Amino acid sequence: MISFLRNKYLCENIFNMISETDFITNHYSTEINHGSSTWSAPSNIALVKYWGKKENQIPANPSISFTLKNCKTITKLSYSKKEDTANFSFDLLFEGKPKEDFKPKIQKFLDRIETYCPYLKNYHFTIDTENTFPHSSGIASSASGMAALAMNIMGLEKELCPSITDEFFYQKASFLARLGSGSACRSINGSIVVWGTHNEILGSSNLFGVEFPTLIHPNFNNYQDTILLVDKGKKQVSSTVGHDLMHNHPFAEQRFLQAPQNLSRIKSILETGNIEGFIKIVESEALTLHAMMLTSMPYFILMKPNTLEILNKIWEFRNRTKIPVCFTLDAGANVHVLYPENVLVETLQFIKDELVGYCQNGQYICDEIGFGSELIIDN
Ligand code: PMV
Repeated sequence: MISFLRNKYLCENIFNMISETDFITNHYSTEINHGSSTWSAPSNIALVKYWGKKENQIPANPSISFTLKNCKTITKLSYSKKEDTANFSFDLLFEGKPKEDFKPKIQKFLDRIETYCPYLKNYHFTIDTENTFPHSSGIASSASGMAALAMNIMGLEKELCPSITDEFFYQKASFLARLGSGSACRSINGSIVVWGTHNEILGSSNLFGVEFPTLIHPNFNNYQDTILLVDKGKKQVSSTVGHDLMHNHPFAEQRFLQAPQNLSRIKSILETGNIEGFIKIVESEALTLHAMMLTSMPYFILMKPNTLEILNKIWEFRNRTKIPVCFTLDAGANVHVLYPENVLVETLQFIKDELVGYCQNGQYICDEIGFGSELIIDN
């Protein structure tokens, strides 16, 4: 029987048959009265971008990202049983102080995941969260924030259903995080994560992120990401609105064909260690993401003049020195400078000499590929 179940699971995994209903938890103990846990989850940076989605946070194309190491959210979730089970009840603290304006996003997240975690209304929660990166640095905290919260919720679920496997634990955490913020599903595990069905990535799914399944070439070990903070203000157009503008976008169809092709290419690049090929795909993906924004209706620009100055400086430096430094961009003006660990000294010197002047208050963050979420405290 066990081997039949294992085979069934394998088949489902290979043929990507895991469905939403597999994540509904029906049987759980009601014995746990209170407790708390603290998890950290990192940010991630996409190499092939997710831009455009279908209903229920299903991506319009597959994406792949580096999980980061230093840019993290650390969240403590405390829970205690309550009498009234009709509504969600929670307090939200950011760096130890109440933060009312974060609450609607959390409320929406809880509404979305309730079907899968029906025990949530039995508890009052205190969510105490902080980031390792500076507040309003223009670095999106939604991916790391939703991932850290999802890990804590799975911590509670594990208390209520001790028999769940580690595989289910992490897969469901990614599934829940996705419902909070799409790219958050790539912040559960490290070091390279694929989200979205792709015929060359075993077990890939639109419902959750999976670790890149094959061996990565040592050229990409400890790959560096120095994040240049060009503009720390609030974005004029949110990601939610941006994704939405991919409906009826004149180039959407073409883009949704290009992304899986780029993912195929980057898969073999990561396996063979072809850094030149890596640079081409990654920079093209960054500019394509912003090209989609420029050609939306209404159109918008998230890059700033200093973003372009930095891109030109990177090209100039690369041409001059042959040091394989490249950039990628998120949905914002900040620039992620990506480079192999063996050119760290020269690249940091270049950043200090030539790029820091384009950063707001000269600020930048040194990060690198990391390993995903971590349990900090389990009570
Ligand atoms: O997860 P969201 O809805 O914030 O969208 C993120 C989209 C990009 O960061 C621009 C690309 C990506 O794949 O992370």
